[in-house]
Amino acid sequence: MNGMDNLLNFSALDEAFRKLSENPAKLSVVLGLIYLVGLLCVSSIPYVYWQFFERKKHQMAVAKGLKAQEAVQLTADATVKQPSSDSMPTPDQAFKLMRTRRTIFPKDFSDEKVSREEVERMLEAANWAPTHGRTEPWRYVVLGQEGMQAFANVTLEAIDRANLDPHTAAKMRGKIENKRDRDMLKTSYLIVFCMKRQAIPEKVMPEWEEMAATSCAAQNMMLMGTAMNAIGYWSSWNAAAKEDKDFKRFLGLSEEDQCLGVYYLGKSNAADSYRSARGPISEKITWV
Ligand SMILES: Cc1cc2nc3c(=O)[nH]c(=O)nc-3n(C[C@H](O)[C@H](O)[C@H](O)COP(=O)(O)O)c2cc1C
Repeated sequence: MNGMDNLLNFSALDEAFRKLSENPAKLSVVLGLIYLVGLLCVSSIPYVYWQFFERKKHQMAVAKGLKAQEAVQLTADATVKQPSSDSMPTPDQAFKLMRTRRTIFPKDFSDEKVSREEVERMLEAANWAPTHGRTEPWRYVVLGQEGMQAFANVTLEAIDRANLDPHTAAKMRGKIENKRDRDMLKTSYLIVFCMKRQAIPEKVMPEWEEMAATSCAAQNMMLMGTAMNAIGYWSSWNAAAKEDKDFKRFLGLSEEDQCLGVYYLGKSNAADSYRSARGPISEKITWV
C-alpha cells in the first residue's frame, strides 16, 4: 500500500462510502435523501429571493421616515389579530384623524411630491376595507405624469364618441383640458378608483355592495393619506366617458366594471386653510 492509499483509507468519507456500496439498499436510501435535500434547497431559492425583496421594501418604507413599528405589512395575505385596546389610537385620536381629512384641490398642492411608498401604504390601508363575500372588488390604476396625460386624452376621445349635443361636449372637453393642463401638472399621482363587478366569478353580490366596499376602501386610503399629509381630492370624473368601452379598456376594466372617479394626490401646506362643516348628527339618527 503506498502513502496515497493510506490517505484514502483514513478518509471517513471513503470508508462510509465503501460500506454503503456493500449494501445497495442503504445506498439508495442515502442517495434518495441527498436528492430530496437538494430538491428542497433549489425549490426554496425563489422564496428566499422573495423574502429578501419584501425585506428591502420594508426597509425602504422605514427609511422614508415611517416608524418601524408602524411600517406597513406589505404581504397580500397577512392576517391581523385584533390588537389590545392599549395599542389602539384613542377615540379622540381616531376622531381627530377622521375630522381632519379634507378635500384639498390641486391648485393648493405644493412642489413636494407624494412618494410611491406612501401611495403603497395608502392602498395597503384601502385593502383592509370590509367586503361582503370577501370579493375585495376595489381596483386601482395609479397614473404618473405620462399616464395622467394619456388618461385625459382617452377621456377627451370618449367625450367625442358620446352622442352629446355640441354645446355640452365642448363644455366637457374644456373641463378635462383644464384638468390635464393645470391640475394634473401639480398632482403627484392620479389614483383611479375602480370596482371589479365580479372579482370572484362564482360570487355575484349586489352591485351596490361592491360600490359600497370600494367606497369604504377609498375612505381608508384617504385617512391613511391624511396621517402622512398625502392628501387630495376625489373627483367624480366625466360621466359620459366612464361608460365608454375604450375608456374602460384603457383602465383594464371589462364592460360591467365601474370607474368610481379619480383621486388627485399631492402634498399641501395650505390644508389648514380649508374648512368643512357638517349638519348635526342628531338630525340624522332615529333611535327606536
Ligand atoms: C363620491 C364622491 C365624489 C366626489 N366628486 C367630487 C367632484 O366631482 N368635484 C368636487 O369638487 N368634489 C367632489 N367630491 C368631494 C366633495 O366635494 C367633498 O368631500 C365635500 O365638499 C366635503 O368636503 P371635505 O371632503 O373636505 O369634508 C366628491 C366626494 C365623493 C365622496
